[in-house]
Amino acid sequence: NDMLDWQRTAFHFQPLNNWMNDPNAPLFYKGWYHLFYQYNPSGAVWGNITWGHAVSRDLVRWFHLPLALFPDQWYDSNGAWTGSATVLPSDGRLVVLYTGSTNESVQVQNLVVPADPNDSLLLRWSKSDANPVLLPPAGVAPYDFRDPTTAWIDSEGFWRVAIGTKDDAHAGIAIVYRTADFLNYELLPGVLHRVVGTGMWECVDFYPVATGGNAMGEGLDASVPAGNGVKHVLKASMDDDRHDYYAIGSYDLEKNAWVPDNPEADVGIGLRYDWGKFYASKTFFDPAKQRRVLWGWVGETDSEAADVKKGWASLQAIPRTVVFDVKTGSNLIQWPVEEVESLRMSSRKYGNIKLVPGSIFPLDVVGMATQLDIVAEFEIDPVALTATVEADVGYNCSTSGGAAARGMLGPFGLLVLADEGLSEQTAVYFYIAKGTDGQLTTHFCHDETRSSRANDIVKRVVGSRVPVLDGEKLSVRILVDHSIVESFGQKGRACITSRVYPTRAIYSAARVFLFNNASSANVITKSITTWQMNSTFNHPFNFQ
Ligand code: FRU
Repeated sequence: NDMLDWQRTAFHFQPLNNWMNDPNAPLFYKGWYHLFYQYNPSGAVWGNITWGHAVSRDLVRWFHLPLALFPDQWYDSNGAWTGSATVLPSDGRLVVLYTGSTNESVQVQNLVVPADPNDSLLLRWSKSDANPVLLPPAGVAPYDFRDPTTAWIDSEGFWRVAIGTKDDAHAGIAIVYRTADFLNYELLPGVLHRVVGTGMWECVDFYPVATGGNAMGEGLDASVPAGNGVKHVLKASMDDDRHDYYAIGSYDLEKNAWVPDNPEADVGIGLRYDWGKFYASKTFFDPAKQRRVLWGWVGETDSEAADVKKGWASLQAIPRTVVFDVKTGSNLIQWPVEEVESLRMSSRKYGNIKLVPGSIFPLDVVGMATQLDIVAEFEIDPVALTATVEADVGYNCSTSGGAAARGMLGPFGLLVLADEGLSEQTAVYFYIAKGTDGQLTTHFCHDETRSSRANDIVKRVVGSRVPVLDGEKLSVRILVDHSIVESFGQKGRACITSRVYPTRAIYSAARVFLFNNASSANVITKSITTWQMNSTFNHPFNFQ
């Protein structure tokens, strides 16, 4: 459908057509990055779940491969659902565990291995004769047992795998099995972690992070043990509110237990990978660049009817490098993989631009403002910061009126995918709130409410508080790609992804503006760079 083609992205991963959801079994194998994904071969809505497959040399330019796993056995005929890959260090062998929804819709775990381990493209797979290798254990409902993690090795040489579930108290839970051969499993006593009230935990992810202030970009293999500057991240996708929550904590392998550093920001109630549209994510360790990379599913926020009409639904977020934030010690840093920068073309740089209260400033970016990488740094007038006396506003991105509601020290930031007359605009902004105690808190938000003139779309204001340390400027990086805006606040401490569907701000009609809606402070941009982004022109691999 040509009319809706402008909503397709130019440098995000998406299949040629139809429905996609979770990223599955991402890995690096014999020189190729592999991405599998939940896919409906026969429509733009969820169903018939099959594994799609693509490969890339650089995580950015992809070749679409033939479908990898089909729902063709009794133990996955209702869908070959989400799973993860483990590369065994002893011999480089690759095993994949995935959830099958059986002919009776029971959730079971299955083992599948490459039919030809020498094929770097991993085109053919063989499902184990032993499938299903795991059935829901006693006390776990048949519909609440899914999405096995990548395995990690324990002190006795067994592999451990976590699986998400929930219990009668509506607590989300991660349980752990151990196995020597991926065929026979033993459920370990206790639970890895449990949080009351959070509901079903989908797509659990569990991995170590280095806390020692090592070079940015250093990641750890799943089997690196806890202790000595290594903490563990536990992440779960909350089926209740459709957000991916994580927490950093301590893992006790002997006790089969993980404890969050900050119980008040536990999994499901504290930090999110992303405050916008981002779900069912999964990391993998990239041995080629010694980094941990995060993939996440970005669904549509238009109507199902619109998806059917355009013939496709969903994107994958730009893969992000994930590291521990050494400066705050309390959150992760996520940043687009460095290969994304190889798509940067002509750039434009701006120096100090002074934005007086209530002003708007157009940026004459080079090329089309529908495909951009933007890096901007802001400073707020220090005199206004100290002089301002403001009642405690208890600011909240989602409920405080978005980019149009004026406070003394915010909002200010950028309007992307805007048309000349600003009838459409997606605001990426900061808001500084000053408490009665003089304390400043900074909020980082997206306002989607004016993103499109179409009305069959979910439009929200989303975001969160973001730590700003002494001497730091406010900074944001924004990736704009036709119908997606992905923002990284304070160098990746807080991330927000929005799907937006402008009807006027498309192709050469799209514009970028700076704005300052603070009522009593000048905002100065310290530097802004915009790059036109190349298209990746992903296409089917040619086997001839
Ligand atoms: C998450 C999820 C998983 C499941 C898969 C089915 O989006 O619901 O829990 O395995 O998608 O497609």
